[in-house]
Amino acid sequence: MSTISIPVTKTTQSKLSETDFSSLVFGKSISDHMFVADYQNGAWGDFRIVPYGPMEIYPGNATLHYGQAIFEGMKAYKNEKGEVLVFRAEANAKRLNESAARMCMPQLSESVFLEALKQLLSLDRDWVPQGKGSSLYIRPFMFAMDNYLGVKASDSYRFMIFTSPVGAYYSKPVSVKVETTYTRACEGGTGEAKAAGNYAASLYPALQAQKEGYDQLLWTDGKTHSQIEESGTMNVMFKIKGTLITAPTHGGTILKGITRNSVLQLAKDWGQAVEERFLAVAELEEALKNGSLEEAFGVGTAATIAFINKIKVNGRDYLLPEPKPDAFSTRVLSTLDSIKYGEVKDPHQWILTI
Ligand code: COI
Repeated sequence: MSTISIPVTKTTQSKLSETDFSSLVFGKSISDHMFVADYQNGAWGDFRIVPYGPMEIYPGNATLHYGQAIFEGMKAYKNEKGEVLVFRAEANAKRLNESAARMCMPQLSESVFLEALKQLLSLDRDWVPQGKGSSLYIRPFMFAMDNYLGVKASDSYRFMIFTSPVGAYYSKPVSVKVETTYTRACEGGTGEAKAAGNYAASLYPALQAQKEGYDQLLWTDGKTHSQIEESGTMNVMFKIKGTLITAPTHGGTILKGITRNSVLQLAKDWGQAVEERFLAVAELEEALKNGSLEEAFGVGTAATIAFINKIKVNGRDYLLPEPKPDAFSTRVLSTLDSIKYGEVKDPHQWILTI
């Protein structure tokens, strides 16, 4: 594979020394550089790495009006030798293109995605925090660039990657409420794409739940609100009577989470019983009532595993015990961490070393 040429303009004002790596808040600190590519006349070009900073766009930029925008989330870790390890970058490159197809946006070759990522991370490698619980969150994204108010797919686009050193997304287990009024995704919609608008649409319902004292929502299907789909911005899994249950991704409403896929792979490796099927709200309620719900947790890149300690169903709160050290969710989190920080063999070639 020939490497693409990416001219670099280095910052003259690094923010590294003024960044407190001991108290990182998710998404607040941004590393020094960003990758930019522009799509015009049917091709990607003008690749460049430049200092992170504001950019000019027209007020008529189509993204600002009609939301033709997609993003990815991924993470890099530092091992004890100081090498930078990126988790499942190829899967993110592939999923970006799946989202792009759904949103009428152009495909970006996986080799450009990966090469841009490698060069950006090589330049900003000092921004990758060392130590368990911290990582460099990577945000690749693409958006429409036409300065045009007609509603149509844009002709021009920008793709960018910037990064942010982060600590834990959730510092403690989360409480959730089964949502039966609002919908995250419906059949035929954009639920499986990582489209910006999905997240905008989730803000109001999430805020209502927060006003009631819950951290997040358990989303249900848009038609009947009788089946669990996701939790907050994550996929969600339950362990009931020894079986791991999570929603299937073939119906178009569920994000094809890369952490979800990794957890299912480890479950398979360990001989853990798994059912990829929708869990009915009634079944969840019954399992909460009779004590057969052993574990409930969100799975996503930002948090990896978010333990759930309270669920509101049909007006009643149910508390879940803290997961034990031998619980599936605890073991899967620690195994994923060991792989990501390069402490154990990488059994599925998930790591790209930079
Ligand atoms: C993730 O959990 O990876 C997410 O997508 C959350 C992100 C929107 C911050």
